[in-house]
Amino acid sequence: MKIVSGNSYEELCQRAAVIFSEQIRKKPDSVLGLATGSTPLGLYRELVRLYEAGRLDFSQIRTVNLDEYYPLRPEHPQSYHYYMQENLFGHVNLRAENCYLPDGAAPDPALACVAYDQRIEQLGGIDLQLLGLGENGHIGFNEPGSELCADTHLTELSESTVHANARFFANEAEVPRRAITMGMAGILKARRILLIAYGKKKHAAVAALLDNRITPQVPATLLKLHPDVTVLCDGGAFLG
Ligand code: GLP
Repeated sequence: MKIVSGNSYEELCQRAAVIFSEQIRKKPDSVLGLATGSTPLGLYRELVRLYEAGRLDFSQIRTVNLDEYYPLRPEHPQSYHYYMQENLFGHVNLRAENCYLPDGAAPDPALACVAYDQRIEQLGGIDLQLLGLGENGHIGFNEPGSELCADTHLTELSESTVHANARFFANEAEVPRRAITMGMAGILKARRILLIAYGKKKHAAVAALLDNRITPQVPATLLKLHPDVTVLCDGGAFLG
């Protein structure tokens, strides 16, 4: 695991954008694994800027997102479908048919989960997976617990995640209690992983990434099993 520290949020996003740009230029039909939350926003802004400057082409790129609330319709302003449209898809030349997210409105979520993993396989797997980090060490919506799921699955959000994500909704009661998320094996199958952690709130989870333990109580520690992970973090996340 390679740890790279940056002085500011902007610097982390710039560094992340360099890694994404190199991937897109090296393999124009790359499969990019994308994340949501506040952390990737600066990266997406930078990718849009590079596209507008004529320096990036997304026409052949395929994307798969990590997770989606359940049940939540794609038109809901807090759905990850909506987020991706607003922050990236609507601003670059990605083709709509090349962008995949778990279906938060699926009548049969178990079936939708199997179909999602099959889709990722059909695409040839993920070349570069972007991750944020939950305050409790979750990645995607793989929450701490005594066991973790391998494949895409419907999961219950922990109370701490509902609380942390309530800032995006009118109030805590509106936060869906469940989500569809890629599982740990799905994430670890990505050929390369880039995790961004910003701010003191992420320090405990980042500290667990730096010590020698692998525990389902901090799902991100499973990333230690992967041969090509880069963690970009600022001083707050790194030092507390
Ligand atoms: C959500 C998402 C995660 C994300 C996390 C951190 O729970 N499911 O994928 O990494 O939030 O969010 P933020 O970047 O806003 O701190």
